[in-house]
Amino acid sequence: MRVLVTGGAGFIGANFVLRTLSQRPDVQVTVLDKLTYAANPATLAPVAERIELVTGDIADAELVDGLVAGTDLVVHFAAESHNDNSLADPSAFVQTNLVGTYSLLEAVRRHDVRYHHISTDEVYGDLDLDDPARFTEHTAYNPSSPYSSTKAGSDLLVRAWVRSFGIAATISNCSNNYGPFQHIEKFIPRQITNVLTGVRPRLYGDGRNVRDWIHVDDHNDAVWTIIDRGQIGETYLIGADGEVDNRTVVETILDLLAQPTDAFDFVTDRPGHDRRYAIDSTRLRTELGWRPQYVDFRTGLAATIAWYRDHPDWWQPNKHTVEAGYAATEKIIG
Ligand code: NAD
Ligand code: DAU
Repeated sequence: MRVLVTGGAGFIGANFVLRTLSQRPDVQVTVLDKLTYAANPATLAPVAERIELVTGDIADAELVDGLVAGTDLVVHFAAESHNDNSLADPSAFVQTNLVGTYSLLEAVRRHDVRYHHISTDEVYGDLDLDDPARFTEHTAYNPSSPYSSTKAGSDLLVRAWVRSFGIAATISNCSNNYGPFQHIEKFIPRQITNVLTGVRPRLYGDGRNVRDWIHVDDHNDAVWTIIDRGQIGETYLIGADGEVDNRTVVETILDLLAQPTDAFDFVTDRPGHDRRYAIDSTRLRTELGWRPQYVDFRTGLAATIAWYRDHPDWWQPNKHTVEAGYAATEKIIG
């Protein structure tokens, strides 16, 4: 089976490539990645001889057409993925997440290729802290940020291409991932590498916002489950019952790194900051039989901390630039 993985040099895509090669010897992988600031080709270095890495843009229709023509399956991870960046400048989000997805959809339509679309729970907006509800496949779309609205738009393009043109597509909407190889602009690796470099962790606003954490390997196993057994045209929500508020995440990181658990600062809140995400993944579990392997967040977090501690060469070259970017807008408020 030939698989085209877009965004395969980023966090989730690279974990997908590494796990696929270790578990599925029958799969040949081609990665299409623009190698933006978010990519780290070093992640794929151990498998460089076993994959084809094409450096290019998913919005390049001619390039995409040729690659899709020669594949059996497209798994589309590539995106501009960071909410804070989308607030500073949304343009790349519109171009990659919307126009890039459109170019892939047209190519799979022309060549009749199976397509799996990776998306996010953020398309559903947010929930109040005391709301007993969780997101399901039937929750109405209500995105808040430029990032999540472009992801929502890309999902709707996929749905329209299924209905109007009959493409063989599935969609998954997953909650917040953590694990190795995540860019240090993101919350968990930012705070781990802050503590490792002697900087106090930074909590936006009151620190009570809740995210529904899932280990990246559990996400990627769910993606293969949907590709193998999902119903064409359907959407599946992926989540591991991992709701934790941000303050607790920071306190746990500090505790695991043997620091005082109050050694953090509150900083300026993110504009439009979603309060809480929560996924009900009953459909994926009951219809397709998927189960997460990482059910204890503290254990998964400890393994992730160990990975960043043991791989400074992977993240240290970016640390100064990332923190300088945050420093331009972030003010300590408590
Ligand atoms: P990431 O930012 O770590 O990686 C994105 C990758 O896409 C990078 O390698 C980048 O170079 C590549 N890319 C960006 N623009 C491109 C373009 N125009 N053409 C080709 N490649 C391009 O992102 P991630 O966290 O790995 O997220 C991957 C996917 O999963 C995204 O679609 C995201 O919306 C979705 N998702 C992420 C999470 C999460 O918690 N990180 C949760 C649910 C869904
Ligand atoms: O829910 C899935 C989404 O999760 C994905 O679609 C996105 O691609 C991914 O980036 C992530 O979005 P978030 O905005 O939830 O993730 P982020 O890591 O940026 O922030 C997580 C929470 O931590 C959020 O409430 C903001 C907060 N935060 C973030 C940073 C970087 C802080 O309190 N301090 C920080 O320094």
